[in-house]
Amino acid sequence: MRIVLLGAPGSGKGTQAQRLIDKHRVPQISTGDLLRAAVAAGTELGRRAKATMDAGKLVDDATMLGIIRERLAAPDAARGYILDGFPRTIPQADGLNALLAEIGQPLEAVVLMEVDHERLMKRLTGRRTCRSCGRVFNIYTAPPPVPSPCGGQCVTPDLFHRPDDSEATIGKRLEVYESQTRPLVEYYGSRGLLQRVDAEGDIDDVTQRLERALVRASERR
Ligand code: AP5
Repeated sequence: MRIVLLGAPGSGKGTQAQRLIDKHRVPQISTGDLLRAAVAAGTELGRRAKATMDAGKLVDDATMLGIIRERLAAPDAARGYILDGFPRTIPQADGLNALLAEIGQPLEAVVLMEVDHERLMKRLTGRRTCRSCGRVFNIYTAPPPVPSPCGGQCVTPDLFHRPDDSEATIGKRLEVYESQTRPLVEYYGSRGLLQRVDAEGDIDDVTQRLERALVRASERR
């Protein structure tokens, strides 16, 4: 499997990628996660990226292409990949095409996760992520396990709220998505790679629609 999950912040790219990786045995490559790991580790990249991410803007294309080139060279990506959050601009998509041609790993499909923008604010302000395993929850729609009153026998996730999930920064991220990332819909549509998925409603139902879209894409090849 070699796919891109495309969609606005909060459209469920990360949630669905986590469900696909076990079944399809390919890694989820989330550029947001890679950047957050660099910030947490205090690397030079992390120091440069932090202010940009906190402002809801995009890290520059050359940096992102360098990160993707390095990640796709790792052994686990030889079986395929789920790109989550990359590409996000036309120059990133052009760079990705060139890189994938060079390594002989062309894209099979680009799945557009479609969600009404009004719902995204609630999804993102309610998101909580487990610090240890990265699993994503939502205090409104996908709550974490309730701590048990058993006196400490139950393990509960160590949750955090992303700094860019404040209302003001979410607004900026949605604006950036519309101006810089939305043009990729036309870009991949004109190349016959785009599959649209209704990403609203029950998370399991979205997974089923996504799997059906991947079957449709494989039938077109
Ligand atoms: P990144 O981490 O990629 O953030 P994003 O694209 O804004 O996407 P999110 O992670 O916010 O949302 P998601 O679609 O994965 O939704 P999720 O599944 O978590 O990027 C962060 C920053 O890094 C960027 O702003 C930028 O600065 C930088 N960056 C990253 N990549 C870059 C690039 N290529 N170029 C330049 N800069 C880059 O779901 C959200 C919530 O909704 C969760 O709580 C979940 O439980 C819930 N949910 C999911 N599905 C459903 C459903 N069906 N119904 C109800 N709730 C649901």
